Amino acid sequence: MPLTAEIHCHVEGAADPELVIRQARKYGADPSPFIQNGSFVWHDFTTFLQAYDFAADLFRTEEDYARLTEHYLTSLARDGAIYSEVFTSPDHARRAGLSPQAYTNALGEGMIRARDKTGIEGRMIVTGVRHFGVEAVEAAARFAARCGHPLVTGFGMGGDERMGDIEDFVRAFEIAREAGLGITVHAGEFGGWESVAGALDHLKPSRIGHGVRAIENPDLVRRIAAEGIVMECCPGSNIALKVFDGFPNHPFPALLAAGCKVTLNSDDPPYFWTTLRNEYDLAAKHFGMSEKALTAVTRTSIEAAFVDRKTRSALLARLEKKR
Ligand code: ADE
Ligand code: ZN
Repeated sequence: MPLTAEIHCHVEGAADPELVIRQARKYGADPSPFIQNGSFVWHDFTTFLQAYDFAADLFRTEEDYARLTEHYLTSLARDGAIYSEVFTSPDHARRAGLSPQAYTNALGEGMIRARDKTGIEGRMIVTGVRHFGVEAVEAAARFAARCGHPLVTGFGMGGDERMGDIEDFVRAFEIAREAGLGITVHAGEFGGWESVAGALDHLKPSRIGHGVRAIENPDLVRRIAAEGIVMECCPGSNIALKVFDGFPNHPFPALLAAGCKVTLNSDDPPYFWTTLRNEYDLAAKHFGMSEKALTAVTRTSIEAAFVDRKTRSALLARLEKKR
């Protein structure tokens, strides 16, 4: 079983239905429109986001968030993960009544607890939500730049990539880059190859969230390979959200063969009936990847991780030792 590492997972999207039901009980909310028979219920990207927002709103205190990261990272580590980078969303925290700083501190506390128990290393990527607008994304960037939390090492943007012009988000990403944060952005999931090209041209990320619809343009695939842009692929998410019609049509193997730096991630695992381990198992089953090839994927994730040199070396040494 190869060791794994994750660089694309939304922390609010990592809360499993059981935990969300417990939170709903705690706050007197009715989860039944969004959770049925122990499973999240949604049928397209819009209703997925509604279920996601419902669940996120049930994490309201520092201890709620600390427990969420502790629980998620501990379960990842028990499944063979040595590193976890999670996307955080100050906007969701604020909507749930917690300040971004208290939220970030609490998530960090959960990461430390998980590290103490299992050895898993954790980092946070603050994200803006694209469909909340340019102002909100800039505010998230300003928060990321000034929060000073040692485990906040990146900035990104999720949400609906079909909303807004990518040029309008340049300032937000400049703020984050100037603060020394690593940069990633969701593109090429619900937007086509042009969305990926626009994100690369204007925001200059070292990594792209999903990016898989770059496959629609061979020149762009060549560019991604030549520039060494790391692709945060989430095949289970893509199939569940019908970005591609089944694993045989997923471009992961073609991108890998074209020399792109691809990684495997779970995105919002319980919403897509997956886990990080399951993504690796699916890649073995559907893409014919050997244990050695999967370990190379983990190495790519660690090489692309938003961590200091010493932490990266220690993670790579753990990976080599296991081989
Ligand atoms: N936020 C949470 N999950 C997302 C996804 N799959 N795409 C864009 N934004 C998201
Ligand atoms: Zn995502």
